[in-house]
Amino acid sequence: MSVPHHQASRRTIKLRVLPSADAVGRVIADEVQCLLQQKDAPVLGLATGSSPLTTYQELRRRFAAGDLSFAGVRGFLLDEYIGLPRGHVATYAAVIDSELGDRVGLRAGAIMGPDVWRADLEKACHQYEEAIADAGGIDLQLLGIGSNGHIGFNEPGSDFSSRTRIARLASRTRVDNSRFFGGDVEAVPTHCLTQGLGTIREARRIVLIATGASKSKAVARLMTGSPSPDFPASALQGHPAVSLVIDAAAAFLLPGFGQCA
Ligand code: GLP
Repeated sequence: MSVPHHQASRRTIKLRVLPSADAVGRVIADEVQCLLQQKDAPVLGLATGSSPLTTYQELRRRFAAGDLSFAGVRGFLLDEYIGLPRGHVATYAAVIDSELGDRVGLRAGAIMGPDVWRADLEKACHQYEEAIADAGGIDLQLLGIGSNGHIGFNEPGSDFSSRTRIARLASRTRVDNSRFFGGDVEAVPTHCLTQGLGTIREARRIVLIATGASKSKAVARLMTGSPSPDFPASALQGHPAVSLVIDAAAAFLLPGFGQCA
């Protein structure tokens, strides 16, 4: 796949390195809070996995303290596993429900994910794209990054203009995610529905989160490498409003941040 010229020539990712994962969570919660205070019906793009957990914890704290209202907020998940029963604790729908949901006063139905439980999955993908568009698009997309550079479940080789679709998980991703399945790789589904890279890139603002040394290689490649479908997160280069917010451990391999700098 050819890489559009503007992506190859412009590095737009703003880097912010913070001392800890908790500090990352506070800074990103500040961003969410600004959006919620500025807009009547804000639309959040919600990641799951470990990376956004400190952000969600901080949002819950601010909600409980009465500092933040989620009235009118809508949220869209990036992806969902195919093959798990509805309500399974590892489904991203269940994860986001237990992380945010009514813990921050979100009304039932305010958060949507790709509907992997319907018979016609192609239709589910199409309707998910329509639902995002009908909501007016995503104002602020939170993203994690896989150790192989995936975002959502757009694995290496994904087209930069891809839309919500059925995708196969890379074997490395299944190993990485087995920690959410009691360490059993075989229990990790092989397929999912994921927003495409083209879908994700339409968000008005994107914040990519990475914490821990296991993300340091991916972070270094994102900040120093060229855009390539081999490294899906590089599709974000050229986006007009994207930040990478990381802790010191994830920054370790960046020029100027390592021990020998
Ligand atoms: C998972 C999810 C992504 C997530 C990423 C990083 O496989 N599909 O949405 O952002 O990989 O996960 P983690 O934050 O747990 O490292």
